[in-house]
Amino acid sequence: MNQVFYQNSLLKFVRTKKGRALDLASGNETFVKLLLKNNWYVDSVDLKKNNNFKKKNYTFHCIDLEKTKLPKIRNRLALRKYDLVILFRFLHRPLFRIIPFLMKKNGLFFCETFMIQNGKGKLNTKKNMLREKELFNLKNCSLNLLKFYQGKDSQKGNIIQTAIFKKV
Ligand SMILES: C[S@@+](CC[C@H](N)C(=O)[O-])C[C@H]1O[C@@H](n2cnc3c(N)ncnc32)[C@H](O)[C@@H]1O
Repeated sequence: MNQVFYQNSLLKFVRTKKGRALDLASGNETFVKLLLKNNWYVDSVDLKKNNNFKKKNYTFHCIDLEKTKLPKIRNRLALRKYDLVILFRFLHRPLFRIIPFLMKKNGLFFCETFMIQNGKGKLNTKKNMLREKELFNLKNCSLNLLKFYQGKDSQKGNIIQTAIFKKV
């Protein structure tokens, strides 16, 4: 399965709590499957469906997160609020403005993607990578930063930035 730096925290939360989760840019739906296995209700969003995976309690939303206006994204998600939002290996900065509105009080937001350090990073396009301490400095009065790390990932040595936020 695709790994994230705070995998243990994610697994602990997913196994001990139940509720509704949103996976943004869900890709091959690895995390969707993990959530469903642990009896979560799950919505996921991506540009394209990567397989024909269909399951009770799961809704896939085909939305272009870069081209769709933020209020419309919320409407497409039926103005739902989530106990868990995950955003892994995809960056579109305006999403940081709506994510707090998508979360229930005490809900968690896990975010992890590549970052640029000393002008270098895994991706070809700079704007798709986080800047130094960008998640640490994310200014949002309704999100508390619980955990933050920037540096090499634990698998391939790519430079990543990762954080867990709690909605207050
Ligand atoms: C590197 S994959 C990450 C998948 C998953 N989050 C993971 O970590 O395993 C990036 C995903 O972002 C999706 N994506 C790219 N541009 C997008 C857009 N404009 N709107 C929605 N999804 C997009 C791609 O289709 C792809 O599934």
